[in-house]
Amino acid sequence: MIAIRKSRIICYTICALSMYAHARAEMAMQHIEGRNITSLNGGWDVIIDPTNNGDWRKVWIEPVVQNDHQFFEYSFDGGPVLRVPGDFNSQRCELTYYESTVWYRRRFELRPETGSRYFLYFGAVNYLARVYLNEEEIGVHEGGFTPFQFEITNRVHEGMNTVVVRVNNRRREDGVPAEGYDWLNYGGITRDVYLVVTPETYIEDYFIQLRKDSFNEVDGWIRLNGERKNQRIVLTIPETGQKFSFKTDGDGRARIHFNWDFELWSPENPKRYDLIIESETDMIHDRIGFRTVGVEGFRVLLNGKPVFLKAVNIHEENPFTGSRAATAADNRVLLDWAKELGCNMVRLAHYPHNEAMVRMAEEMGLMVWSEIPVYQHINFKNPKTVKTMNHMLREMITRDKNRCGVIIWSVSNETYASPERDQAHIGMVNICREMDPARLVSAAISNQSYRDNTFEVWDPMVCHLDIISVNEYIGWYVPWQGHPSDINWVMVCDKPLFISEFGGEAHYGSNHGPKHRAASWSEEYLAQIYRDQMMMFDATPNLCGISPWLLVDYRSTARLHPVYQSGWNRKGLLSDQGEKKKAWFIVQDYFRRADK
Ligand code: GCU
Repeated sequence: MIAIRKSRIICYTICALSMYAHARAEMAMQHIEGRNITSLNGGWDVIIDPTNNGDWRKVWIEPVVQNDHQFFEYSFDGGPVLRVPGDFNSQRCELTYYESTVWYRRRFELRPETGSRYFLYFGAVNYLARVYLNEEEIGVHEGGFTPFQFEITNRVHEGMNTVVVRVNNRRREDGVPAEGYDWLNYGGITRDVYLVVTPETYIEDYFIQLRKDSFNEVDGWIRLNGERKNQRIVLTIPETGQKFSFKTDGDGRARIHFNWDFELWSPENPKRYDLIIESETDMIHDRIGFRTVGVEGFRVLLNGKPVFLKAVNIHEENPFTGSRAATAADNRVLLDWAKELGCNMVRLAHYPHNEAMVRMAEEMGLMVWSEIPVYQHINFKNPKTVKTMNHMLREMITRDKNRCGVIIWSVSNETYASPERDQAHIGMVNICREMDPARLVSAAISNQSYRDNTFEVWDPMVCHLDIISVNEYIGWYVPWQGHPSDINWVMVCDKPLFISEFGGEAHYGSNHGPKHRAASWSEEYLAQIYRDQMMMFDATPNLCGISPWLLVDYRSTARLHPVYQSGWNRKGLLSDQGEKKKAWFIVQDYFRRADK
């Protein structure tokens, strides 16, 4: 009797633990498009589940009726189909402002081969993903803007396999971002999904960039995953005929260290090299550029020369379709506008954009400010939240560390000063320095005061950053308190100053009401904000760059005015139809002057 009781206790304990111990997704392998991938993009069958009944109904289990009395109150067959990649909000009108669960299902055929390994890769799922394969849960991932993967080698079988993904985009008090943010909460499988096949021992990750302050010394590493740890690695640069050989150690790691007089990447010459990275069991091609970035005094240096950051803020949204930007065409629309404006940098707000966007920016000669969505109302007192943001930061750096176009990692936007927040930020800055010592680290802050035409940046956390980035809306949220040219800056420490956000709202074409009134929402009022801001910039000695908020009007549930906003934030230099507001031309002219 005692034996039975003991076994029951053990069984209950195991069940209890397994209920809460979801396996966490793995960090995604480097450069997924350079591998043996099969796209699982396209139409996925879905079950829309606003009150999470699918959890107890176990909708990941195929509903097979086995007798005359049995029935199921769910099915993926005969239901809606949603496009992947893509947010669900813009695909069905009943999902426009939906913030709950959608179950996705996709089947794929497979003939597994001995010696190969199989992975499911997700470019991003917003916000919580729980993934099932062949009716078994394989793991979870939190975070809406970074890739993740699951190894499924021992779970796939010959023939048809079925993947089910529970996607939930409910805002969470302990989330990153949390419950308040000024963009539409697009949920869904918003980026590409791939089935990935690798050799038993594959090239899992690599970091190949110039060491800090060097123009010709590469100091990186490569890591294998699999049984055969000790392998010879050959790195070939076909264009130059260079071959460099290395040997991985017992952990499958090798230092990649060599010198070469590269043609350095720059906005004027976005040079990248084809690289072939070969081990004895795997090979991957990548296109990598080489440049150095640093700060000296109040200037940012690119390849040792001062560069003024002519940036613009961009949300990951195609304004014409009012949906998450998910394709190369979407990315091209946004980046072509940035180039036309005269930018040499884009601030990809407020979260890592899709990988193709970062690669396209680099190819077009646009430097990138890349940011994790540690945005405003974050609960830094909750250790789980801090753990989530640290993991998200590692995911962002892991994915884009070989993208020379990325020059700044940003760890937050407008978070409120507190001991817990400062501690979390110092921790994140340390992660950046540890993973990637060659890039700049910043955060967009708003802990400042503007009184008697004196702008004081008092946030002590900025002293841990490489550049001080300030979001200020003088002329919009706060009126000028003197002539813009007479502004007095008081900085908590001497570092380059980047104006990471400024601007105001105008409804394209509206020139109603008195132009000196903000409530006119007029283009003329907005244009005056920009004229005044430019005068201030000309009088700001430690200015290293500016980034208007923002390129194009975008959707936000926080913007309620029924005439001028109707669910859109109208701070774009362009309307949601790509029409140029008066302010566009003021920025374009300033950027032209900045080069002189
Ligand atoms: C803040 C915030 C943006 C927001 C902007 C605005 O600075 O960083 O995300 O959209 O203000 O008020 O429009």
